[in-house]
This record gives sequence, C-alpha cells and structure tokens, in this order.
Amino acid sequence: MRAFDIESIRNDFPILARNVYGRPLVYLDSGATAQKPKCVSEAVRGMCLENNANIHRGAHRLASESTTRYEEARETVRAFIGAECPQEIIFTSGATAGLNVAASSLCRLLVGEGDNIVVSQMEHHSNIVPWQMGMENVSTGRGWRGSKGNIRVLPFDDSGAMDIDALEKGLVDDRTKVVALTQCSNVLGTRPDIGRVVEIAHRHGAVVVVDGCQGAVHGDTNVRDLDCDLYAFSGHKLYGPTGVGVLYGKKELLEKMPPLLGGGDMIATVSFGETSWAELPFKFEAGTSNYIGAVGMAEGIKYLSQFDRADVARHEQSLLDAATEALSKIDGLRIYGTAPGKASIVSFTVEGTHASDIGAVLDKLGIAVRTGTHCAQPLLSHYGVQSVCRASFALYNTLEEVDALAAGVERAVKMLRK
Ligand code: ALA
Repeated sequence: MRAFDIESIRNDFPILARNVYGRPLVYLDSGATAQKPKCVSEAVRGMCLENNANIHRGAHRLASESTTRYEEARETVRAFIGAECPQEIIFTSGATAGLNVAASSLCRLLVGEGDNIVVSQMEHHSNIVPWQMGMENVSTGRGWRGSKGNIRVLPFDDSGAMDIDALEKGLVDDRTKVVALTQCSNVLGTRPDIGRVVEIAHRHGAVVVVDGCQGAVHGDTNVRDLDCDLYAFSGHKLYGPTGVGVLYGKKELLEKMPPLLGGGDMIATVSFGETSWAELPFKFEAGTSNYIGAVGMAEGIKYLSQFDRADVARHEQSLLDAATEALSKIDGLRIYGTAPGKASIVSFTVEGTHASDIGAVLDKLGIAVRTGTHCAQPLLSHYGVQSVCRASFALYNTLEEVDALAAGVERAVKMLRK
C-alpha cells in the first residue's frame, strides 16, 4: 500500500499545478470528471504508440498484445468490484451507455403490460430517461410519453435520505420487474442502503440496477456483497479517460438479456436466416471497443487501489466536514443533502443570488465548481430550485482548497448582493 501523502499525490496530477486567470487552480468538480494522474496518460500513450492494433481480430503480434492488455484491464475491473468472473464485466462507452443497455434489455426481457419498475427520484437523468425509453409504447421522434407499464418513483426526504421504507409500504410489489437507483447521489452525496433495497426487491422477484458512477469512486465496492444484479460506472470519474465505462451483471442474468447493439464481435454466426450471439461478455461489446480507454481506465483504478481506501475515505471525509462547517457559516447558504454517511459532495444555494453567478465569480478566482441542474431535474424539483452550485472533492483536494472555496463564496455573495 502506498502511504497517503497529499503532496506526493498532487504531484501525480500535473494539471493541479496550473494557474487559471493568474490564480492557482482549485479543482472542485471531480464529480463531473476527475483529473488524471500521469500513469493514466502514460498507459494511453503506450497503447497508442507501442501496442495499438484492433483487439480480438488480427492474426498478428500487435493484435495479440493489444488483446492481452484489454483482457488484463477487464481482470483489473473484475477484481476492483469483486465480480465473480470476467464474463460479468462488459466494457461500454460510459455509465450512460451501460444504463441504456440495462434499461433497453431488461424492459424487453422482463416488462409486460401492467408491470412496473421503480426508479428513485434522486437519479441522474441517465438512470431515468433510459427507463422511460425502455418502457415506451408510443413511438415518437420528439420525446417520451406513455409507457407499457408504470414507472414508480422512490422519493427522498429533505435531508436527502432515500425513503426506502416506501418500498416496503407497497411501492414494490409482485409486478415490479426492476428497481433502479444510485449508489451515491451526484448532487446530494447520499449513499442509500443498497443492501436493504436489494433484499426488498429480490423478495418480490425484481432485479436491482445500480448507478455506481459516484459510489465506485468514494468507497470500496463489492458487487457480490451488494448482491445487486447490474452495476454501471464510468472510467473518467475514476481517474481514467473519458469514453469508457463498465456494466457489471450477474452472469446468469446477462446470459438471458438481449444485446442492445448489433455488429461485429458480438455474434457467433450470421446468416440471413438466423444469427446467434457471441459468448459473454462479447455479446454486449459490438464494434471495436474502446480498448485504449479500457487500459487507461484500468490504470486509473490501479492508481486509486494502491492506497488504503480507508485512508482515502478519511481524507475525503475531512474535506467534507470542513466544507460543510465553513459554508454553513455563510448567511443565507443552504446545503442540499445532509443525510448521515454522505460522500464528499456539497451542493448549495445562497439566498438572493443565482447559482450560476456564484459559479462565475468562483471561476474568476480559479475555483472550479459545477452549477446547474447536474442532470438531475427531478431531484432539484423536490426542493423547488432550478439550479445549485456543487463542490465535489477527490483524493487530491486539500483543506486549503476548502478554505479558498468558503472565502470565494463569501466574496461572491458580497459582490452579488450589492
Ligand atoms: N454526471 C456528472 C456530474 O454529476 C457529469 O457532474
């Protein structure tokens, strides 16, 4: 294990040393995408300059090297989330793609007239819209309307705690085919008790699909302990490159699920009379996969995994505590998401100001936060707000950066309230 030394960690991320508008960058937008350590760019560079050839196809040495690296990346991912076998790890272009495969496939496989699925209200749009598309029975080029079954909404309270009791009180029933929820809200930081949701859903024969985008970054994840059926996440939030992600699924379920994309590499045989799918995981990996990205993602995972995750969690918790305390002192500031055990994500608004104006002032101070709906409009509608500021912390952030954020918000508020 590598010792958790913040200075040496920051040295691994050259971008953190740059200036923005003449001021040192304070990067607090890792929830949107994490910065990349040098080892990731070196792995991607190595694949491009030394190992590049299409995977699973060529008869030559380079193709075999490239294929080996790709399949090693799959093994790295398998070990990282504790999956049983590499067949359960499907490389995708990101979490959104993984959730679209899940929704399209499960809605075709499982959902009939009169069935329902349950989606939590705190989901990112990528764990809402694919289910609406999967459930549609009215084909339209303009948007979603109507469904062959019901989409039921699992609510949360003002603290941001998911109302899991609602599942017990009839939200889930024997016509429920799927329960889809996040492992960690990208706005509230809430980490719902997935184990309890799984237990309730399985009792009714429903499949559980988890969006692990933020959850995989902020804590140890073992899909076998969670016992969820499908689990999706992205490489770029895990210190890896963009354009690559993972859909994990229990083998037995993946075997039954129809693929979403057809094309090369996902078939066993093709004729105009009949086509058969390839074995797992290739059935879900049509076309040339982002094998360079997959190797980069594995490197990001190895980077994170060299630390004791408890050390990372402690560090992120100290940032969260400090940010919560400092921001709470600002007059009129409201934090969204105060549920116990939340991850290092702090969303807020300040009375009398607009979130995007705060973000713009912070930007000029070199402080990068995200503002807007955070791709979670149903979540924001719970609070009746259109936009919030979000500071999201990663292992490379410091307490000095938390101080800079609080001072920056105070300054912004003074300017904007004049
Ligand atoms: N899903 C990313 C976020 O929460 C983009 O910012």
